[in-house]
Amino acid sequence: MPGLLPPAAFIFLLTLGLFLPRATPKSTIEPCSNADSCSALVGYTLYTDLKVSEVASLFSVDPISLLLTNAIDISYSDVENHILPSQLFLKIPIPCSCVDGIRKSSSVSYKTRPSDTLSSISSAVYGALVSADQIKEANPKAELSDPSVIAVGTQLNIPLPCTCFNNTDNNLPAVYMSYVVRDVDTLAGIAARYVTTVSDLMTVNALGSAEIKDGDILAIPLSACASNFPSYAKDYGLVVPNGSYAITASHCVQCSCGPGSRNLYCTPASLAVSCSSMQCRNSNLMVGNITTQQTSGGCNVTSCSYSGFVNGSISSTLFTSLQPRCPGPQQFPALIAPPTVVPDSIYSPAPSPSELGGIPTTSPRSSVVPSSGAVLGFPPVGAPIGTGITSGSSSACSLSNHFSFPIMIMLGLIVKLVLSVSL
Ligand SMILES: *[C@@H]1O[C@H](CO)[C@@H](O)[C@H](O)[C@H]1NC(C)=O
Ligand SMILES: *[C@@H]1O[C@H](CO)[C@@H](O)[C@H](O)[C@H]1NC(C)=O
Ligand SMILES: *[C@@H]1O[C@H](CO)[C@@H](O)[C@H](O)[C@H]1NC(C)=O
Ligand SMILES: *[C@@H]1O[C@H](CO)[C@@H](O)[C@H](O)[C@H]1NC(C)=O
Ligand SMILES: *[C@@H]1O[C@H](CO)[C@@H](O)[C@H](O)[C@H]1NC(C)=O
Repeated sequence: MPGLLPPAAFIFLLTLGLFLPRATPKSTIEPCSNADSCSALVGYTLYTDLKVSEVASLFSVDPISLLLTNAIDISYSDVENHILPSQLFLKIPIPCSCVDGIRKSSSVSYKTRPSDTLSSISSAVYGALVSADQIKEANPKAELSDPSVIAVGTQLNIPLPCTCFNNTDNNLPAVYMSYVVRDVDTLAGIAARYVTTVSDLMTVNALGSAEIKDGDILAIPLSACASNFPSYAKDYGLVVPNGSYAITASHCVQCSCGPGSRNLYCTPASLAVSCSSMQCRNSNLMVGNITTQQTSGGCNVTSCSYSGFVNGSISSTLFTSLQPRCPGPQQFPALIAPPTVVPDSIYSPAPSPSELGGIPTTSPRSSVVPSSGAVLGFPPVGAPIGTGITSGSSSACSLSNHFSFPIMIMLGLIVKLVLSVSL
Protein backbone atom coordinates (compact mmCIF):
# COMPACT_ATOMS: atom_id res chain seq x y z
CA MET A 1 0.00 0.00 0.00
CA PRO A 2 2.23 2.78 -1.23
CA GLY A 3 -0.31 5.36 -0.07
CA LEU A 4 0.77 4.80 3.52
CA LEU A 5 4.30 5.97 2.83
CA PRO A 6 5.43 9.56 3.27
CA PRO A 7 5.92 11.04 -0.22
CA ALA A 8 9.69 11.26 0.15
CA ALA A 9 9.98 7.58 0.99
CA PHE A 10 7.69 6.71 -1.88
CA ILE A 11 9.75 8.64 -4.38
CA PHE A 12 12.85 7.07 -2.92
CA LEU A 13 11.28 3.66 -3.38
CA LEU A 14 10.36 4.46 -6.95
CA THR A 15 13.88 5.59 -7.66
CA LEU A 16 15.19 2.48 -6.02
CA GLY A 17 12.84 0.42 -8.14
CA LEU A 18 14.43 1.83 -11.27
CA PHE A 19 17.79 0.34 -10.59
CA LEU A 20 16.90 -2.65 -8.52
CA PRO A 21 16.56 -5.72 -10.65
CA ARG A 22 12.96 -6.81 -10.80
CA ALA A 23 13.95 -10.02 -12.50
CA THR A 24 17.01 -12.09 -11.71
CA PRO A 25 18.47 -12.44 -15.25
CA LYS A 26 21.98 -11.10 -15.72
CA SER A 27 23.54 -9.83 -18.85
CA THR A 28 27.14 -9.42 -19.89
CA ILE A 29 28.13 -5.81 -20.37
CA GLU A 30 31.23 -4.59 -22.15
CA PRO A 31 32.29 -1.08 -21.19
CA CYS A 32 33.59 0.94 -24.14
CA SER A 33 34.89 4.39 -24.85
CA ASN A 34 35.44 4.72 -28.57
CA ALA A 35 32.89 5.29 -31.28
CA ASP A 36 33.92 2.32 -33.42
CA SER A 37 31.56 -0.57 -33.94
CA CYS A 38 31.97 -4.23 -34.76
CA SER A 39 29.89 -7.04 -36.12
CA ALA A 40 28.17 -9.16 -33.53
CA LEU A 41 25.38 -11.72 -33.39
CA VAL A 42 22.31 -12.28 -31.31
CA GLY A 43 20.87 -15.75 -30.87
CA TYR A 44 17.16 -15.61 -31.55
CA THR A 45 14.41 -18.21 -31.28
CA LEU A 46 11.38 -17.55 -33.49
CA TYR A 47 8.24 -17.00 -31.39
CA THR A 48 5.97 -17.87 -34.30
CA ASP A 49 6.23 -18.86 -37.97
CA LEU A 50 7.85 -15.95 -39.77
CA LYS A 51 9.01 -15.22 -43.28
CA VAL A 52 12.74 -14.69 -43.75
CA SER A 53 12.00 -11.08 -44.67
CA GLU A 54 9.92 -10.60 -41.51
CA VAL A 55 12.71 -11.83 -39.25
CA ALA A 56 15.15 -9.61 -41.15
CA SER A 57 12.90 -6.61 -40.70
CA LEU A 58 12.46 -7.27 -36.95
CA PHE A 59 16.22 -6.84 -36.61
CA SER A 60 16.69 -4.28 -39.39
CA VAL A 61 19.09 -6.58 -41.23
CA ASP A 62 19.50 -7.62 -44.84
CA PRO A 63 17.61 -10.91 -45.48
CA ILE A 64 20.46 -12.30 -47.61
CA SER A 65 22.92 -11.55 -44.86
CA LEU A 66 20.62 -13.22 -42.32
CA LEU A 67 20.39 -16.35 -44.46
CA LEU A 68 24.12 -16.59 -45.17
CA THR A 69 25.03 -16.09 -41.51
CA ASN A 70 23.03 -19.25 -40.86
CA ALA A 71 24.55 -21.05 -43.87
CA ILE A 72 21.13 -21.25 -45.50
CA ASP A 73 21.27 -21.69 -49.26
CA ILE A 74 20.13 -18.48 -50.96
CA SER A 75 19.81 -20.07 -54.39
CA TYR A 76 16.29 -21.32 -53.63
CA SER A 77 13.72 -19.31 -55.54
CA ASP A 78 11.88 -16.64 -53.59
CA VAL A 79 13.94 -17.54 -50.53
CA GLU A 80 13.15 -14.21 -48.80
CA ASN A 81 9.49 -15.22 -48.62
CA HIS A 82 10.24 -18.66 -47.27
CA ILE A 83 8.41 -19.29 -43.99
CA LEU A 84 10.68 -20.28 -41.14
CA PRO A 85 9.15 -22.46 -38.41
CA SER A 86 8.31 -21.25 -34.90
CA GLN A 87 11.02 -22.15 -32.33
CA LEU A 88 13.78 -22.21 -34.96
CA PHE A 89 17.03 -20.83 -33.55
CA LEU A 90 18.86 -18.30 -35.74
CA LYS A 91 22.00 -16.23 -35.47
CA ILE A 92 21.19 -12.66 -36.37
CA PRO A 93 24.03 -10.38 -37.52
CA ILE A 94 23.84 -6.95 -35.87
CA PRO A 95 26.20 -3.98 -35.75
CA CYS A 96 27.48 -3.47 -32.21
CA SER A 97 28.28 0.11 -31.26
CA CYS A 98 29.16 2.06 -28.14
CA VAL A 99 26.20 3.81 -26.48
CA ASP A 100 26.62 5.73 -23.20
CA GLY A 101 29.79 3.85 -22.37
CA ILE A 102 28.59 0.33 -23.00
CA ARG A 103 28.40 -1.90 -26.05
CA LYS A 104 24.90 -2.03 -27.43
CA SER A 105 23.18 -2.45 -30.72
CA SER A 106 21.12 0.61 -31.46
CA SER A 107 20.13 -0.01 -35.05
CA VAL A 108 16.93 -1.95 -34.43
CA SER A 109 13.54 -0.33 -34.48
CA TYR A 110 10.13 -1.92 -34.18
CA LYS A 111 6.73 -0.69 -35.30
CA THR A 112 4.07 -1.83 -32.85
CA ARG A 113 1.15 -3.99 -33.89
CA PRO A 114 -2.28 -4.55 -32.35
CA SER A 115 -2.21 -5.78 -28.72
CA ASP A 116 1.55 -5.30 -28.30
CA THR A 117 2.65 -4.54 -24.75
CA LEU A 118 6.15 -3.88 -23.46
CA SER A 119 6.22 -7.40 -22.02
CA SER A 120 5.05 -9.09 -25.20
CA ILE A 121 7.58 -7.20 -27.32
CA SER A 122 10.33 -8.05 -24.87
CA SER A 123 9.59 -11.69 -24.16
CA ALA A 124 7.88 -12.88 -27.33
CA VAL A 125 8.85 -10.74 -30.29
CA TYR A 126 12.49 -10.23 -29.24
CA GLY A 127 12.88 -13.50 -27.34
CA ALA A 128 13.95 -11.90 -24.03
CA LEU A 129 17.01 -10.30 -25.63
CA VAL A 130 15.72 -7.00 -24.29
CA SER A 131 13.70 -6.36 -21.13
CA ALA A 132 10.48 -4.34 -20.94
CA ASP A 133 12.34 -1.78 -18.78
CA GLN A 134 15.11 -1.40 -21.34
CA ILE A 135 12.59 -0.74 -24.12
CA LYS A 136 10.91 1.80 -21.88
CA GLU A 137 14.18 3.55 -21.09
CA ALA A 138 15.21 3.62 -24.73
CA ASN A 139 11.95 5.35 -25.70
CA PRO A 140 11.35 8.08 -23.11
CA LYS A 141 9.14 10.11 -25.45
CA ALA A 142 6.71 7.25 -26.07
CA GLU A 143 5.47 7.36 -22.44
CA LEU A 144 5.09 3.63 -22.22
CA SER A 145 3.77 1.73 -19.28
CA ASP A 146 3.42 -1.95 -18.69
CA PRO A 147 1.01 -3.76 -18.99
CA SER A 148 -0.86 -1.22 -21.12
CA VAL A 149 -1.32 -2.02 -24.77
CA ILE A 150 0.79 0.32 -26.92
CA ALA A 151 -0.81 2.38 -29.68
CA VAL A 152 -0.50 0.57 -33.02
CA GLY A 153 2.22 1.91 -35.28
CA THR A 154 4.40 3.40 -32.53
CA GLN A 155 8.02 3.31 -33.67
CA LEU A 156 10.21 1.97 -30.86
CA ASN A 157 13.98 1.75 -30.57
CA ILE A 158 14.94 -1.71 -29.43
CA PRO A 159 18.35 -1.78 -27.76
CA LEU A 160 19.97 -5.21 -28.02
CA PRO A 161 22.85 -6.60 -26.00
CA CYS A 162 26.11 -7.17 -27.85
CA THR A 163 29.84 -7.34 -27.25
CA CYS A 164 32.90 -6.82 -29.44
CA PHE A 165 35.87 -7.63 -27.21
CA ASN A 166 38.03 -6.54 -30.13
CA ASN A 167 36.64 -9.39 -32.23
CA THR A 168 39.17 -11.68 -30.64
CA ASP A 169 39.08 -14.46 -28.08
CA ASN A 170 42.41 -15.69 -26.73
CA ASN A 171 44.03 -13.59 -29.47
CA LEU A 172 42.23 -15.44 -32.25
CA PRO A 173 39.49 -13.90 -34.39
CA ALA A 174 36.05 -14.30 -32.88
CA VAL A 175 32.53 -12.99 -33.23
CA TYR A 176 30.46 -12.70 -30.07
CA MET A 177 26.89 -13.92 -29.95
CA SER A 178 24.48 -12.69 -27.25
CA TYR A 179 22.62 -15.75 -26.11
CA VAL A 180 19.56 -15.95 -23.88
CA VAL A 181 19.97 -18.90 -21.53
CA ARG A 182 17.07 -21.38 -21.40
CA ASP A 183 16.20 -23.52 -18.40
CA VAL A 184 17.55 -26.65 -20.13
CA ASP A 185 20.97 -25.05 -20.70
CA THR A 186 24.16 -25.76 -18.81
CA LEU A 187 27.38 -23.90 -19.32
CA ALA A 188 29.10 -27.13 -20.36
CA GLY A 189 26.33 -27.83 -22.88
CA ILE A 190 26.67 -24.35 -24.37
CA ALA A 191 30.46 -24.66 -24.47
CA ALA A 192 30.19 -27.97 -26.32
CA ARG A 193 27.59 -26.65 -28.76
CA TYR A 194 29.66 -23.62 -29.69
CA VAL A 195 33.08 -25.31 -29.62
CA THR A 196 34.46 -23.34 -26.69
CA THR A 197 35.24 -24.19 -23.07
CA VAL A 198 33.47 -23.62 -19.77
CA SER A 199 36.43 -21.66 -18.45
CA ASP A 200 36.51 -19.42 -21.52
CA LEU A 201 32.78 -18.69 -21.17
CA MET A 202 33.32 -17.91 -17.49
CA THR A 203 36.18 -15.55 -18.29
CA VAL A 204 34.36 -13.76 -21.09
CA ASN A 205 31.22 -13.33 -19.01
CA ALA A 206 32.99 -12.66 -15.71
CA LEU A 207 31.05 -15.49 -14.08
CA GLY A 208 31.90 -16.39 -10.51
CA SER A 209 30.48 -19.88 -10.93
CA ALA A 210 29.34 -22.13 -13.74
CA GLU A 211 25.75 -21.69 -12.62
CA ILE A 212 23.53 -19.98 -15.19
CA LYS A 213 19.84 -19.17 -15.05
CA ASP A 214 16.96 -19.08 -17.47
CA GLY A 215 16.97 -15.62 -19.04
CA ASP A 216 20.62 -14.73 -18.36
CA ILE A 217 22.31 -13.27 -21.43
CA LEU A 218 25.75 -14.66 -22.18
CA ALA A 219 28.33 -13.50 -24.67
CA ILE A 220 29.49 -16.60 -26.55
CA PRO A 221 32.71 -16.33 -28.59
CA LEU A 222 32.44 -18.06 -31.96
CA SER A 223 35.73 -18.69 -33.74
CA ALA A 224 35.90 -16.73 -36.96
CA CYS A 225 37.92 -15.65 -39.97
CA ALA A 226 39.02 -12.03 -40.00
CA SER A 227 39.56 -9.81 -43.01
CA ASN A 228 42.45 -7.41 -43.31
CA PHE A 229 40.85 -4.81 -45.53
CA PRO A 230 42.23 -1.28 -45.30
CA SER A 231 40.45 1.06 -42.89
CA TYR A 232 39.03 3.14 -45.76
CA ALA A 233 37.16 0.13 -47.14
CA LYS A 234 33.44 0.18 -46.47
CA ASP A 235 33.54 -3.37 -45.16
CA TYR A 236 36.62 -2.78 -42.99
CA GLY A 237 36.71 -5.19 -40.06
CA LEU A 238 34.57 -7.88 -41.71
CA VAL A 239 34.69 -11.05 -39.61
CA VAL A 240 32.85 -14.21 -40.53
CA PRO A 241 32.08 -16.92 -37.96
CA ASN A 242 33.37 -20.41 -38.69
CA GLY A 243 30.86 -22.42 -40.69
CA SER A 244 29.09 -19.47 -42.22
CA TYR A 245 29.07 -16.91 -45.01
CA ALA A 246 28.78 -13.16 -45.33
CA ILE A 247 27.71 -11.00 -48.25
CA THR A 248 29.49 -7.73 -48.93
CA ALA A 249 30.32 -5.18 -51.65
CA SER A 250 26.65 -4.41 -52.45
CA HIS A 251 25.80 -8.12 -52.75
CA CYS A 252 28.64 -8.70 -55.25
CA VAL A 253 31.05 -10.65 -53.07
CA GLN A 254 30.42 -13.58 -50.76
CA CYS A 255 32.96 -14.62 -48.13
CA SER A 256 33.12 -17.83 -46.14
CA CYS A 257 34.99 -19.22 -43.16
CA GLY A 258 36.09 -22.83 -42.68
CA PRO A 259 36.05 -25.71 -42.45
CA GLY A 260 39.71 -26.48 -42.16
CA SER A 261 40.99 -22.94 -42.59
CA ARG A 262 40.99 -19.76 -40.57
CA ASN A 263 41.45 -17.68 -43.70
CA LEU A 264 38.55 -15.70 -45.03
CA TYR A 265 37.79 -16.84 -48.56
CA CYS A 266 35.82 -14.56 -50.88
CA THR A 267 34.32 -15.24 -54.30
CA PRO A 268 31.89 -13.45 -56.60
CA ALA A 269 28.39 -13.86 -55.15
CA SER A 270 25.85 -15.81 -57.14
CA LEU A 271 23.19 -13.09 -56.93
CA ALA A 272 22.31 -11.42 -60.21
CA VAL A 273 23.46 -7.87 -59.55
CA SER A 274 25.70 -5.61 -61.58
CA CYS A 275 29.15 -5.44 -60.10
CA SER A 276 32.42 -3.68 -60.82
CA SER A 277 35.26 -5.74 -62.24
CA MET A 278 36.44 -8.62 -60.11
CA GLN A 279 39.55 -9.30 -62.10
CA CYS A 280 42.94 -8.84 -60.47
CA ARG A 281 45.09 -6.23 -62.18
CA ASN A 282 47.79 -7.58 -64.53
CA SER A 283 46.33 -11.06 -64.54
CA ASN A 284 43.43 -13.02 -65.91
CA LEU A 285 42.45 -14.25 -62.47
CA MET A 286 39.15 -13.31 -60.86
CA VAL A 287 38.48 -12.75 -57.17
CA GLY A 288 38.66 -16.17 -55.49
CA ASN A 289 40.78 -17.80 -58.23
CA ILE A 290 43.82 -19.69 -57.04
CA THR A 291 46.32 -21.27 -59.44
CA THR A 292 49.07 -23.64 -58.46
CA GLN A 293 52.13 -24.73 -60.33
CA GLN A 294 54.44 -27.46 -59.07
CA THR A 295 58.06 -26.36 -59.45
CA SER A 296 61.31 -27.90 -58.28
CA GLY A 297 61.39 -25.46 -55.36
CA GLY A 298 57.85 -26.22 -54.20
CA CYS A 299 54.39 -25.14 -55.17
CA ASN A 300 53.98 -21.73 -56.80
CA VAL A 301 50.61 -20.49 -55.58
CA THR A 302 49.01 -17.42 -57.13
CA SER A 303 45.74 -16.13 -55.80
CA CYS A 304 43.47 -13.22 -56.57
CA SER A 305 41.93 -12.13 -53.27
CA TYR A 306 39.15 -9.73 -52.49
CA SER A 307 40.54 -6.84 -50.47
CA GLY A 308 37.59 -4.65 -49.60
CA PHE A 309 34.87 -2.46 -51.04
CA VAL A 310 36.52 0.87 -51.75
CA ASN A 311 34.66 3.86 -53.16
CA GLY A 312 32.00 1.62 -54.62
CA SER A 313 34.48 -0.66 -56.39
CA ILE A 314 35.68 -4.11 -55.65
CA SER A 315 39.30 -4.01 -54.66
CA SER A 316 41.43 -7.09 -55.28
CA THR A 317 45.04 -8.10 -54.74
CA LEU A 318 47.21 -10.67 -56.45
CA PHE A 319 49.37 -12.75 -54.11
CA THR A 320 52.13 -15.11 -55.17
CA SER A 321 53.89 -17.43 -52.78
CA LEU A 322 56.07 -20.49 -52.87
CA GLN A 323 54.64 -23.13 -50.56
CA PRO A 324 56.05 -26.54 -49.61
CA ARG A 325 52.93 -28.28 -50.91
CA CYS A 326 50.11 -27.30 -53.21
CA PRO A 327 46.88 -26.55 -51.34
CA GLY A 328 43.91 -28.81 -51.90
CA PRO A 329 40.68 -27.50 -53.32
CA GLN A 330 38.98 -24.78 -51.30
CA GLN A 331 36.40 -26.19 -48.87
CA PHE A 332 33.16 -24.42 -48.14
CA PRO A 333 30.88 -24.54 -45.11
CA ALA A 334 27.94 -26.83 -45.84
CA LEU A 335 24.83 -24.94 -46.91
CA ILE A 336 21.46 -26.07 -45.65
CA ALA A 337 18.10 -25.83 -47.38
CA PRO A 338 15.80 -23.16 -45.94
CA PRO A 339 14.45 -24.92 -42.82
CA THR A 340 10.80 -25.90 -42.68
CA VAL A 341 10.97 -27.79 -39.39
CA VAL A 342 12.98 -27.20 -36.22
CA PRO A 343 16.00 -29.54 -36.07
CA ASP A 344 15.54 -32.30 -33.47
CA SER A 345 17.70 -31.04 -30.67
CA ILE A 346 20.14 -28.23 -30.66
CA TYR A 347 20.72 -28.91 -26.98
CA SER A 348 23.51 -31.20 -25.95
CA PRO A 349 22.91 -33.92 -23.38
CA ALA A 350 23.49 -33.01 -19.75
CA PRO A 351 27.21 -32.69 -19.03
CA SER A 352 29.09 -34.84 -16.55
CA PRO A 353 30.07 -33.00 -13.37
CA SER A 354 33.76 -33.14 -14.31
CA GLU A 355 33.08 -30.98 -17.36
CA LEU A 356 31.75 -28.27 -15.13
CA GLY A 357 35.14 -27.56 -13.55
CA GLY A 358 37.50 -24.91 -14.77
CA ILE A 359 38.21 -21.73 -12.91
CA PRO A 360 39.02 -18.76 -15.12
CA THR A 361 42.69 -18.01 -14.96
CA THR A 362 42.64 -14.60 -16.57
CA SER A 363 40.88 -11.56 -15.26
CA PRO A 364 37.32 -10.99 -16.45
CA ARG A 365 36.88 -8.65 -19.39
CA SER A 366 33.39 -7.56 -18.54
CA SER A 367 31.04 -6.84 -15.76
CA VAL A 368 27.77 -8.65 -15.36
CA VAL A 369 24.69 -6.69 -14.49
CA PRO A 370 21.03 -7.47 -14.13
CA SER A 371 19.57 -7.12 -17.60
CA SER A 372 16.58 -5.14 -16.39
CA GLY A 373 18.70 -2.64 -14.48
CA ALA A 374 20.44 -1.18 -17.54
CA VAL A 375 23.22 1.25 -16.77
CA LEU A 376 22.42 2.27 -13.24
CA GLY A 377 23.76 0.28 -10.37
CA PHE A 378 26.41 -1.78 -12.00
CA PRO A 379 29.23 -3.19 -9.98
CA PRO A 380 32.70 -1.86 -10.67
CA VAL A 381 34.46 -3.73 -13.45
CA GLY A 382 36.08 -6.83 -12.09
CA ALA A 383 34.20 -6.71 -8.79
CA PRO A 384 33.00 -10.03 -7.50
CA ILE A 385 29.59 -10.30 -9.14
CA GLY A 386 26.95 -12.77 -8.03
CA THR A 387 26.78 -11.75 -4.40
CA GLY A 388 25.69 -8.13 -4.69
CA ILE A 389 23.22 -8.75 -7.44
CA THR A 390 21.72 -11.90 -6.01
CA SER A 391 21.11 -10.43 -2.59
CA GLY A 392 19.78 -7.27 -4.17
CA SER A 393 17.25 -9.08 -6.28
CA SER A 394 16.03 -11.45 -3.60
CA SER A 395 15.48 -8.48 -1.31
CA ALA A 396 13.65 -6.78 -4.12
CA CYS A 397 11.23 -9.69 -4.25
CA SER A 398 10.58 -9.56 -0.56
CA LEU A 399 10.14 -5.81 -0.81
CA SER A 400 7.23 -6.09 -3.19
CA ASN A 401 5.67 -8.88 -1.16
CA HIS A 402 5.70 -6.92 2.07
CA PHE A 403 4.21 -3.63 1.11
CA SER A 404 1.78 -3.78 4.04
CA PHE A 405 4.57 -3.92 6.65
CA PRO A 406 4.87 -0.95 9.00
CA ILE A 407 6.84 1.92 7.58
CA MET A 408 9.70 1.52 10.06
CA ILE A 409 10.37 -2.00 8.89
CA MET A 410 10.18 -0.84 5.30
CA LEU A 411 12.66 1.92 5.86
CA GLY A 412 14.95 -0.50 7.66
CA LEU A 413 14.71 -2.78 4.67
CA ILE A 414 15.52 0.06 2.32
CA VAL A 415 18.65 0.93 4.26
CA LYS A 416 19.66 -2.71 4.15
CA LEU A 417 18.97 -2.81 0.42
CA VAL A 418 20.98 0.28 -0.27
CA LEU A 419 23.82 -1.27 1.69
CA SER A 420 23.66 -4.54 -0.16
CA VAL A 421 23.41 -2.79 -3.51
CA SER A 422 26.34 -0.53 -2.85
CA LEU A 423 28.51 -3.38 -1.55
C1 LIG B 1 42.78 -6.31 -31.09
O1 LIG B 1 43.05 -7.31 -32.06
C2 LIG B 1 44.14 -7.04 -32.90
C3 LIG B 1 44.25 -8.17 -33.91
O2 LIG B 1 43.01 -8.47 -34.48
C4 LIG B 1 45.40 -6.92 -32.06
O3 LIG B 1 46.48 -6.59 -32.90
C5 LIG B 1 45.21 -5.85 -31.00
O4 LIG B 1 46.33 -5.81 -30.15
C6 LIG B 1 43.97 -6.15 -30.18
N1 LIG B 1 43.75 -5.07 -29.26
C7 LIG B 1 43.41 -5.28 -27.99
C8 LIG B 1 43.17 -4.08 -27.16
O5 LIG B 1 43.28 -6.41 -27.54
C1 LIG C 1 35.07 -24.86 -37.67
O1 LIG C 1 33.92 -25.66 -37.56
C2 LIG C 1 34.15 -27.02 -37.90
C3 LIG C 1 32.84 -27.75 -37.78
O2 LIG C 1 31.80 -27.02 -38.28
C4 LIG C 1 35.16 -27.60 -36.96
O3 LIG C 1 35.45 -28.93 -37.34
C5 LIG C 1 36.44 -26.78 -37.01
O4 LIG C 1 37.34 -27.25 -36.04
C6 LIG C 1 36.15 -25.34 -36.73
N1 LIG C 1 37.35 -24.57 -36.88
C7 LIG C 1 37.76 -23.72 -35.97
C8 LIG C 1 39.01 -22.97 -36.29
O5 LIG C 1 37.14 -23.52 -34.95
C1 LIG D 1 37.86 -18.04 -61.48
O1 LIG D 1 36.71 -17.69 -60.73
C2 LIG D 1 35.52 -17.69 -61.52
C3 LIG D 1 34.42 -17.15 -60.64
O2 LIG D 1 34.43 -17.73 -59.36
C4 LIG D 1 35.23 -19.10 -62.00
O3 LIG D 1 34.05 -19.11 -62.77
C5 LIG D 1 36.40 -19.57 -62.83
O4 LIG D 1 36.22 -20.91 -63.19
C6 LIG D 1 37.72 -19.44 -62.05
N1 LIG D 1 38.83 -19.73 -62.91
C7 LIG D 1 39.88 -20.45 -62.50
C8 LIG D 1 40.99 -20.61 -63.47
O5 LIG D 1 39.93 -20.96 -61.38
C1 LIG E 1 54.81 -18.32 -60.04
O1 LIG E 1 53.73 -18.14 -60.95
C2 LIG E 1 53.55 -16.81 -61.39
C3 LIG E 1 52.30 -16.74 -62.25
O2 LIG E 1 51.94 -17.98 -62.71
C4 LIG E 1 54.79 -16.38 -62.18
O3 LIG E 1 54.66 -15.06 -62.59
C5 LIG E 1 56.01 -16.50 -61.28
O4 LIG E 1 57.18 -16.21 -61.97
C6 LIG E 1 56.12 -17.90 -60.72
N1 LIG E 1 57.19 -17.95 -59.74
C7 LIG E 1 58.03 -18.95 -59.65
C8 LIG E 1 59.08 -18.86 -58.57
O5 LIG E 1 57.96 -19.91 -60.37
C1 LIG F 1 37.63 7.66 -52.93
O1 LIG F 1 37.09 8.72 -53.67
C2 LIG F 1 37.43 10.02 -53.20
C3 LIG F 1 36.76 11.06 -54.05
O2 LIG F 1 35.75 10.52 -54.80
C4 LIG F 1 38.95 10.21 -53.23
O3 LIG F 1 39.29 11.44 -52.68
C5 LIG F 1 39.61 9.09 -52.41
O4 LIG F 1 41.01 9.18 -52.53
C6 LIG F 1 39.15 7.74 -52.89
N1 LIG F 1 39.72 6.73 -52.01
C7 LIG F 1 40.38 5.70 -52.46
C8 LIG F 1 40.96 4.77 -51.42
O5 LIG F 1 40.54 5.44 -53.64
